[in-house]
Amino acid sequence: MKKDLLSINDLSKNDVEKIFEMTDKLRNKHTSHLKGKNIALIFQKPSTRTKISFEVAINQLGGNAISLNWNELQLGRGETVEDTARVLERYVDSIVARVFSHDDLVKMAKISKVPVINALSDLEHPCQALADLYTIKQKKRKLTGSKIVFLGDGANNTFHSLILACEKFDMDIVVSCPKNYKPEIRANYKIIENPEEAVKSADILYTDTWVSMGQESEKENRIRDLQNYQLNSKLVKSAKKDVIVMHPLPAHRNSEITSDVMDGKHSVVLDQAENRLHTEKAILCLLIK
Ligand code: CP
Ligand code: NVA
Repeated sequence: MKKDLLSINDLSKNDVEKIFEMTDKLRNKHTSHLKGKNIALIFQKPSTRTKISFEVAINQLGGNAISLNWNELQLGRGETVEDTARVLERYVDSIVARVFSHDDLVKMAKISKVPVINALSDLEHPCQALADLYTIKQKKRKLTGSKIVFLGDGANNTFHSLILACEKFDMDIVVSCPKNYKPEIRANYKIIENPEEAVKSADILYTDTWVSMGQESEKENRIRDLQNYQLNSKLVKSAKKDVIVMHPLPAHRNSEITSDVMDGKHSVVLDQAENRLHTEKAILCLLIK
């Protein structure tokens, strides 16, 4: 495994398989893998799942989590990310960071001897994608050959990581989005603009918010542009009978996903959120030596 996890592309297919094996081993177990280790969790944006699941994961592995907001640190007053990383590596065994600019993670990782883990950036959300893929495997018993259809803002962090993860397992990846909301990464996916066409024979339907953190000023335009890509019961009916519905959360009910679908029998969103904890335990164990 590489030192850092900034992008899904930092992992080979074999690394992902190792993470899943370790996840199975560590599920619901308290161990001492991180005994004596301190991990800094730094957040430049709000978080419920990532912050709490990482803290609980570290706790279950016997380590110590130090969670801080960007503005509580001197980062908020302009200390550079490089200087911060140089100092932190003298104290902690890993840095988990959620940032606006992916470039800040790259700078931190370059300078720091300890592993840097991406807890979401403008470009990627690799920890989410690992939990997502693990959830698909858990529910569908296979990855290769399964068809995943993403609806909405294809240019978002969560979907970027998910595409790269699904690609490693030769999944059939379809995105249904308007022309100017296409993924901003190079990967092997198909675009089908018409959602009704796109969802046909889908094994997995996936959506994420239309307005990601930091895009609040574009809210009105985004809602207008994406309204025809809502994940609703009509689309669920056009997919396979045993389709699963996924969302990284937080959801904007009746915007990108309707409440009946989110709470309906096809939805696995809570297991998906729970799996953040289990997969993060494996990520931490494998990256922190
Ligand atoms: N899915 C996810 O990363 O949620 P949070 O923003 O609550 O961490
Ligand atoms: N795309 C969303 C994901 C939140 C977990 C955002 O960046 O706000």
